[in-house]
Amino acid sequence: MNPNRKPILAGNWKMNKTSSEARDLAAKLAPLVSGVKDREIVLAPTFTSLQTVSEVIKGTNMVLAAQNMHWEDKGAFTGEISAEMLLDLGCEYVIIGHSERRQYFGETDDTVNRKAKQALKKGLSAILCVGETLAEREAGKLNEVISRQVTVGLKDIVTEYIKKIVIAYEPVWAIGTGKTATPEQANEVHSLIRQKVKTLYNAEVAQGLRIQYGGSVTPENVSALMAKPDIDGALVGGASLKPDTFATLVNFK
Ligand code: PGA
Repeated sequence: MNPNRKPILAGNWKMNKTSSEARDLAAKLAPLVSGVKDREIVLAPTFTSLQTVSEVIKGTNMVLAAQNMHWEDKGAFTGEISAEMLLDLGCEYVIIGHSERRQYFGETDDTVNRKAKQALKKGLSAILCVGETLAEREAGKLNEVISRQVTVGLKDIVTEYIKKIVIAYEPVWAIGTGKTATPEQANEVHSLIRQKVKTLYNAEVAQGLRIQYGGSVTPENVSALMAKPDIDGALVGGASLKPDTFATLVNFK
């Protein structure tokens, strides 16, 4: 953690919770985290629960995120959701390029970039996800993969918009597997990302950029991760689905 960057803890609920279950989770979470002042708390339910969760968290210290969006304004894109639709429901953030989207739904660095640009243009903040697979790491391609994902993901995004970007480093091998990257491994990649952003923009932009770690973050390991200088938050899947667990995680010491 760095005192100049506000920690950001986000719960990615993925394809879990019906609308009524989501309402219940958000409502139970609200009083458990209401005392948190110096951290940003973001909830990313499914599209079908955005409206409900938006109503529940109105006036609390939690903000709303979507898990995906399309890069066009509107039109014949069956099954897709636009930035404007998300804004209309009260979203402030959108997760872009999660590894599950890249792995199962054919998203590429190019589509990630298009989505990020559209999100920012429309006034959403973007949580842009990057991360290597185990095979890439073992083949010594970690730096190459992360550099490419960051460079292409941020292509043509002007400095003014960068303030609304959070990068989430999520090693694919650590997601939902119980295998967390060690704080040292995570911090190493975070500083690589910060370095890359410095070369793409400048030192000030790089210093201001928040970089979250994601991949099997739990209340047990969050403090050690957050103690590292380049780790500014967590993107949490499994451990965000129970109010007590996520609240403990958010309230880490
Ligand atoms: P996990 O998921 O915490 O369940 O590993 C993290 C993520 O995919 O964002």
